[in-house]
Amino acid sequence: MKLKLAVLISGRGSNLKSLIDACAAKDFPAEIALVISNKQNAPGLNFAKKAGIPMAILDHKKYDSREEFDKAMSAEIEKSGAKLVCLAGFMRLLSPWFVEKWHNKLINIHPSLLPAFKGIDVHKRVLESGVKTTGCTVHFVRPEMDSGPIIAQAEVPVFSGDTEEKIAARVLAEEHKCYPAAVKLIAEGRVEIKDERVLIREKN
Ligand code: GAR
Repeated sequence: MKLKLAVLISGRGSNLKSLIDACAAKDFPAEIALVISNKQNAPGLNFAKKAGIPMAILDHKKYDSREEFDKAMSAEIEKSGAKLVCLAGFMRLLSPWFVEKWHNKLINIHPSLLPAFKGIDVHKRVLESGVKTTGCTVHFVRPEMDSGPIIAQAEVPVFSGDTEEKIAARVLAEEHKCYPAAVKLIAEGRVEIKDERVLIREKN
């Protein structure tokens, strides 16, 4: 049986699209059961619509607290049967309640080589720092922002004369490979967390 995913987005949804494309392959061990957006007009919803994937739009402004909103999301995820939650440009902080509820079943993609460059304005800070390499990270989510056991990373060079836009595009191309690859590892049952580090088992 395929691993059922819930993908949470807020905007463009290019990482959602990369997961949809990966799941379209017959032998890919996961499928998307639900896409949730906290923004009614997130462009990424069009990818879900086109692929015929069930969608839930939950406007966070309609809930009294962060936790109330997260509980509503969680109920939708459980209803869909999803067993793994993938944050894909979901630009809202999650409550400790949600992070605990989906402990080791909640993953995120971030456009840097964590633990470097957590937070926002990543590529601007990469340029300012003078690092010669950056990249992306897929990790299990822990309560502290952009932290948690690392499942997969991909590296890209930073060139002289780079702009934020050029780095973002170079990193994004890697994100689109890294996220499906990390989901595949989990779906194949090859990912184990030991002492807050990910161990990847060899394929049988
Ligand atoms: C991606 O670059 C993702 O790594 C980043 O937002 C972008 C979403 O793009 N996420 C974060 O910064 C989370 N801390 P997308 O909507 O096209 O997938």
